[in-house]
This record gives sequence, C-alpha cells and structure tokens, in this order.
Amino acid sequence: MSRLAILRYPDPRLYKKAAPVSRVDEAVRKLVDDMAETMYAAPGIGLAATQVDVHKRVIVIDTSEDRSDLRVLINPEITSRNGVQVHEEGCLSVPGIYEEVERAQVIRFRALDREGKSYEEDAEGLLAVCVQHEIDHLDGKVFVDYLSRLKRDRIRARLQKQVRKTA
Ligand code: NI
Repeated sequence: MSRLAILRYPDPRLYKKAAPVSRVDEAVRKLVDDMAETMYAAPGIGLAATQVDVHKRVIVIDTSEDRSDLRVLINPEITSRNGVQVHEEGCLSVPGIYEEVERAQVIRFRALDREGKSYEEDAEGLLAVCVQHEIDHLDGKVFVDYLSRLKRDRIRARLQKQVRKTA
C-alpha cells in the first residue's frame, strides 16, 4: 500500500467529474487500499478518488471512533433523501477550514463494495453527511462551493497564502 498526495483547494483538478468504474478489478482494489491508507494517515473520515487525482467513482469512509469500520463505495448513488441537518464540515483538500453546510438528514444509497458486490444502506447523521460530501467530490464539487462567494474568496486567499508559505 502507498500513501497518495491529496489535492488542495482551489486546484482545478478537484472540479473534474469522475467516471464510473466499469469493473472492480485488482487495480481498483489497489486504489481502494491506497486511499484507505491515505485517509487514515491524514487523518480523515472520508476520501474520494478525485482528491487524489484519480477521476473514478471510488470513495472510502470510516466515521467510527476507533477507526475500525472502513466503508468502500464504488459507483455510489443516493436513492432517497429525507429531512435536513446542518453540520460543520471539513475536508482534507481544504485543510484547517470548518464551515456549516446543510444536507439531507437521512439518505439511502447504493454502491459496490471492494469485491464489486452491490449493496444498499441507510445512513443518517455524520455518515449521511460524509456520503453526500464525498459523492459531491466525484461530481466535481467541494463543500466550500455551498458557502457565500465572500466566504469562499476568503478561504481561497487563505489557502493560497499557506501554499506559498510551504512552497
Ligand atoms: Ni472533502
């Protein structure tokens, strides 16, 4: 397994739309394993392939306290949404920024697992937020896109300054 480099907002590659995975083969499983290692090392609770500059519909999530509940979502699709929740979100591609975003409270989604087997699951609360946030990445959307233009411009300026400092 290897750790992958995570793209940082406002990198234009974060705005690419990811393509469906046609077959869950060894290469896809290797990507899943590398993404999981990258997410745990960061540390984060979710990572979409878009964030590591691979434009395929692959997500890893672990919202458990003890980091023992890895979920793999390949070609995920939300089949129903209910209710509303506002949650403070962060993102490994937008380090140090936390902002409230409104999302569905309860969702049902369908996806393929690491073996390519189809499953369906209901999610609420943090897991529901995370699934919606990561699917947005696959569609070329970052959570700061939900914020006002003014806020977004400030975040962009702050992150660009950080990049200059570390470069
Ligand atoms: Ni994110």
